[in-house]
Amino acid sequence: MTDLPRILISRRLPEKVEALADQHFRVRYHHSDTPLTPEQLIGKAANMEGLLVTLGDQLDAGVINKLPETVRIIATFSVGTDHIDVAAARRRDILVTNTPGVLVDATADLTWFLILAATRRAREGLALLVEEEPWTGWAPTQLMGRDLKDKRLGVVGLGQIGAAVARRARAFGMEVHYTGRRRKPAGIENGAVFHPDLESLLAVSHVLSLHCPLTPQTRQILNDRTLALLPEGAFVINTARGELIDDNALIAALESGHVAGAGLDVFAGEPALDERYLDFDNVFPLPHLGSATLETRQQMGVTALKNLKAYFDGRQPPNRVMP
Ligand code: GLV
Repeated sequence: MTDLPRILISRRLPEKVEALADQHFRVRYHHSDTPLTPEQLIGKAANMEGLLVTLGDQLDAGVINKLPETVRIIATFSVGTDHIDVAAARRRDILVTNTPGVLVDATADLTWFLILAATRRAREGLALLVEEEPWTGWAPTQLMGRDLKDKRLGVVGLGQIGAAVARRARAFGMEVHYTGRRRKPAGIENGAVFHPDLESLLAVSHVLSLHCPLTPQTRQILNDRTLALLPEGAFVINTARGELIDDNALIAALESGHVAGAGLDVFAGEPALDERYLDFDNVFPLPHLGSATLETRQQMGVTALKNLKAYFDGRQPPNRVMP
C-alpha cells in the first residue's frame, strides 16, 4: 500500500467518496466541515503529492508558493476556481483541476427554486404562517407575486449551468436572453437571444440570473450603474459568486423598490455576508446550497478523484484548469 500516491483531503466529504479515495490513495484527512487556515493547510500538505481542496480553502499565490515541493496537483471539489491562483500554481508546475458538468442540474434546479421563491414571495408567505399569528386565511390581494410566463429571463453567462437554467425557463413560458464573452452556437443558444453587452441584456430582463465565473472582469458587474438599467421591479438571482454584486448597490435598489426581490445563494466574503440582506422580506437567502444534493456531491468527489488518479497514472486529467 505504501506506493499509493499521497493526498491531503482538506474537508469532510461524502462517505462514498472517502471510501473511494482510500482505495486509490494514501489519504491524510482534515475530517471537518471547517476550512483549514492557510498555515494549517501548508503544514498538512507536508510530504503530500496531491491536494484535494474545496471552497473556503484559500490558495492564493502566497500559499501556493509555500506548498512543499512534493505537491504536483491541486484538485478542487468545485467548479469555481476563484479560490486558487491558477497562474501561481502553473509557475510552480502544479496542475489544477475542477469538477465541471456534474453539478449543472443541481445548481440549475436551485436557481429555479430561488426564481420561484423570489417572484412568488415565499419568504413572506412562510413568515405569515410561522411568525405572524394567527394567519387570517386566504385573501384576494394577499402576497401577490409576479407571473413568469411571457416574461424575459436574462442569463449572464450561457455556460453549462446558464444553459441548464435557460432550458428550464422554457417550461415556464419565459423568453430567454443572454450575454457572454461570445455568441454561442445555435445548438446551445436554443432560441435564446444574444446581447453583445451586459447593458443591453439588463435593459430587457424581468428576472436576471448570474452564471458567470468570478474574474477581475466580472467582479461587481452588478453595481449602481448597471442595476439602474434593469426594468423597474426586476428580480435578481445569484447562484454563482457573491462578489459579482456590489452589495451596497443591490441593497439600495431593493430599498428603493427598483429591484422587487432577490434570490441569493452566494455572498461576498463567505461565510461572512452583508446581514442587511436578512432584513428584507423580499430577499430569499440560502447558504450556498447550489450543488448540495447527495448525488451531486458524490459525483463531484468522484470527479475530483478521477482527476487525481489520471494524473498519478500518467494521463492528462480530464478537467485541467488553465490560467
Ligand atoms: C460551487 O460554488 C462550485 O464552484 O462548485
